[in-house]
Amino acid sequence: MDATGTPDAPAPPAMIRLTGVAKTYPDGTRAVQDLDLEVRAGELVCLVGPSGCGKSTTLKMVNRLIEPTSGTIEVDGDDVTHADPVALRRSIGYVIQQVGLFPHRTVEANVMTVPRMLGRGLRRGRRADADRARELLELVGLDPAVHAGRYPHELSGGQRQRVGVARALAADPPVLLMDEPFGAVDPVVRLRLQDEFLRLQRDLGKTVLLVTHDIDEAVRLGDRVAVFGAGGRLAQYATPADLLAHPADDFVADFVGSTSGLRRLRVTTVDPALLEPLDGVRASDLGAAVDVGATLEEALAAMLRDDRPMIGIRDGVRFLGVLTPTGVHRTLRASLRTD
Ligand SMILES: Nc1ncnc2c1ncn2[C@@H]1O[C@H](COP(=O)(O)OP(=O)(O)OP(=O)(O)O)[C@@H](O)[C@H]1O
Ligand SMILES: [Mg+2]
Repeated sequence: MDATGTPDAPAPPAMIRLTGVAKTYPDGTRAVQDLDLEVRAGELVCLVGPSGCGKSTTLKMVNRLIEPTSGTIEVDGDDVTHADPVALRRSIGYVIQQVGLFPHRTVEANVMTVPRMLGRGLRRGRRADADRARELLELVGLDPAVHAGRYPHELSGGQRQRVGVARALAADPPVLLMDEPFGAVDPVVRLRLQDEFLRLQRDLGKTVLLVTHDIDEAVRLGDRVAVFGAGGRLAQYATPADLLAHPADDFVADFVGSTSGLRRLRVTTVDPALLEPLDGVRASDLGAAVDVGATLEEALAAMLRDDRPMIGIRDGVRFLGVLTPTGVHRTLRASLRTD
């Protein structure tokens, strides 16, 4: 078993690999130092850290908007420093920090920028092009009938960000680089966008490197999280559960904060092996059952909402057992066993 509780399977190959990468800007600013980082195919990795710690610089080195001072960067086994930067950028979806839509193009034209640049749009014809744009807008939760013909200034901040995500997906690249893709929206919309993106990611299985300065967003979205410190130093690279339970140093501990214990409830799901049997439990002690895919936070919230000392866990219509607060504690502990 690995740290996330899934049975061991051969690790997928690395899709992005940075080895000994450093970036010093001409004025002497050391933005990134001695960075080793590997992202497996299909994995969603979050880069998180305070402002100015080199997150955007790291992302831009992967698609060569910025050249590293030293080190090597491989994408799908190829050294990107030997690739044609324009071709490389077209094969990697990129959502920039300030969304960056073209203000004088409609939403549809914005979404189809890269396929049209590649000549694919023309080959397929205008009709097929419009269909593809419509499909992408629906994918990110926008109504094409309403939004496809609008201009960026006629959209809300959250809608603009969705268009940015649709545009990055348009050429169907295997790799997506996303720089604070949900940064400009209020917390409620942000949660919804995160959920939609997670659903999308489960279906599309892209390899994603996503930058955020929000630790909650990082542990919610990431399969693994890379915490950057001052001067572009990688302070820790771990699964969300591991990061929250075992911060590598004082900087990371401070960054994940004193409520990291609560955050762990959010990144750990109910473990069917650690439930208690139903025998002897009085029906009046049991709240409404929650599904086995629920997080411990959701299970605990249901317990508190129903004002019950335990909660039933089901798998569809099948009743699996009972989760108690002690069970929550045991599940948190067990989730960190790496053997
Ligand atoms: N072109 C540049 N010339 C000189 N210094 C730069 C340049 N671009 C970025 N920097 C510096 O490099 C460091 C890292 O910048 P970067 O944009 O990678 O940070 P970041 O982690 O993305 O920050 P934020 O969370 O604010 O977006 C900062 O100190 C920044 O001022
Ligand atoms: Mg940045």
